[in-house]
Parts: sequence; C-alpha cells; structure tokens
Amino acid sequence: MFSGIRDRVAVVTGAGGNLCSEMAKALAAEGAKVALIGRTVEKLDAVRKAIEAEGGTAVSVPADVTDPVQVHAAGDAVMAAFGPCRILVNGAGGNARGAITTVNSFVAEELRDDPGEVRGFFSLDPAEFSRVVILNTTGTMIPCQVFGRQMAGNDGGAIINIASMNSYTPLTRNSAYAAGKAGVENFTRWLAAYLAPAGIRVNGIAPGFHPKPNRDGPQRDRDGNLTERGLRTIENTPMKRFGTARDLVGTLLWLASDEASAFVTGVTVPVDGGFVASSPV
Ligand SMILES: NC(=O)c1ccc[n+]([C@@H]2O[C@H](COP(=O)([O-])OP(=O)(O)OC[C@H]3O[C@@H](n4cnc5c(N)ncnc54)[C@H](OP(=O)(O)O)[C@@H]3O)[C@@H](O)[C@H]2O)c1
Repeated sequence: MFSGIRDRVAVVTGAGGNLCSEMAKALAAEGAKVALIGRTVEKLDAVRKAIEAEGGTAVSVPADVTDPVQVHAAGDAVMAAFGPCRILVNGAGGNARGAITTVNSFVAEELRDDPGEVRGFFSLDPAEFSRVVILNTTGTMIPCQVFGRQMAGNDGGAIINIASMNSYTPLTRNSAYAAGKAGVENFTRWLAAYLAPAGIRVNGIAPGFHPKPNRDGPQRDRDGNLTERGLRTIENTPMKRFGTARDLVGTLLWLASDEASAFVTGVTVPVDGGFVASSPV
C-alpha cells in the first residue's frame, strides 16, 4: 500500500488501452477516485466496470487529448464528479502505420516513382508524421495544462507522463513516434522545473516492450509467434522477456505517491528489463 494516493482524484488518459487500463485499476485499488479518458467510451466503460466490480470508484470521461476544447470539457466533468485532479497519468499515445517505414534503412527502390510495397523515409506522409508527433507531445501537454491547473490551485499533485525506449534512442522505422516520445521525455523535465513552485512533481515512465496480449504487432505475428523483430528485441533485453502491463505498476504508484517520491521530479524511469542500459556489440 502506497500512502498519499487514497481518496485522491486520479486522471488517466489512454485508460481504455493495454497498459493504462492496468494503471487505472492499480490506482483505484490504492483507493484513488479514477477518471478514465480516451476517445472510445465502450473501452473506458469496460475498465470502469472492472474497477467498480472490485469496489473501486471510477468515471468514464470520453475526450480526444489533442483537442483542447474536449480536454477542457473533460476537466470540468472530472471537477464536477470528484473535485480537483491530484494525480495525472498521460498514457494516451501511439503510432500510425503511415508514419512507419517498412525498411530499416535506405533502399534504392524508394526513389522510384512507384516504390511498390516499400515505404521509405522519402515516401512518409508528412501529415501522418505530424499526427503521431502531436498525439504524443501536444496530447500530453494539453492534459497537463487542464489538470495541472486544478493541481496548482489545490495543494499540488503528481504528473506521470508515459515515454518510451524511443525517448532515448530512436528505434528503426519509427521516426515520428521516436520524435514524439523524445519530446515527452524532454517536456517532462521542462515542466518539472516550471511547476515545482506550484507543488507539482512531473515525472515519466519509459516502458520497454510490452506487446498487447492476443494481438499481432511488430513483436508477434497473428499466430502468437515471435517475429524477427520480436526475437531481436528479446535478444537485446538483458532480462530476456517482454514486459507486461503489471510490470509498470510499482513505478507508477511510487511516482504517484507524494510520500514515497516526495523529492523526485523531472525523471523518466525506464521499466524495460535493462534494454536501455545495454548496448550489445
Ligand atoms: N506497449 C508498449 O510496448 C509501449 C512501450 C512504450 C511506450 N508505450 C506507450 O504507452 C502508452 C500506452 O500504450 P499501450 O500499449 O497501452 O497502447 P494502447 O493499448 O493502444 O492504448 C492507448 C490508448 O490511447 C487512447 N488514445 C489514442 N489516441 C488518443 C487520443 N487522441 N485521445 C485520447 N485517447 C487516445 C486509445 O483509445 P481510443 O482509441 O479509444 O482513444 C488507447 O486506448 C502509449 O503512450 C504508448 O506510446 C507503449
């Protein structure tokens, strides 16, 4: 049990997703009143019902984190339901297919008028690139404004931004996502210094590789087998496994607790089985 969380109002963006649904449940299990933010109310309601089934308190507040009008309305809804936010987890984020190259480095085919299946850097869509950068950066900044204002007027609080391994070193193929997550880590430090006089601590968590269970993606194929990229990821992770959503919970609760991490601000903690610490040759 972490002290300094019970009865506090916690807002979790991306709360309908794989990692942040677990974070929302963990905060509720510690006694926080949790507001769940995301665009799809059905996903939020499933998490809300799971929290309520365990005796916790939650409310679904649908909003797009990149839209200031919607996030301001969400801020009003949270204030009306529970009172001022004291803990904010910025988990809404992600990537987009059109912003990911299909090759790890330049190939001559991408210079052709019709590059076929190859999507190289030269054919990335700038609009998709911007969408991913904005989701991860501005989509973190806007909730910090809206819910940080509630904290600043009410004894402060804790903000936890969700970064990535890409915050430190851009992974192959993911230029937009890497730029966005590097921005999240950098912004976390900036905001920590800025908001310290308001009694608000701002920290981050950089998850390693936590593939969604039962879903195909870069790490696992449709049959659940490791892809070539998945195999390389495990090989380059000193602890030789993927992370789970649960792996993030201890760090989250530590950073959310004004007692456990009272003097900690401006740090982003990798929770990655040692991936960022290792540089295999
Ligand atoms: N999984 C990993 O290995 C990993 C590693 C490092 C970092 N991360 C980061 O961890 C966070 C959670 O990842 P995850 O794997 O749990 O992904 P996920 O399951 O896709 O969850 C992301 C959630 O964000 C919501 N979202 C997306 N765009 C939004 C918007 N504009 N406004 C509001 N909500 C929005 C989505 O719900 P709606 O579509 O309903 O809005 C979704 O439920 C992300 O920031 C991700 O970049 C993940």
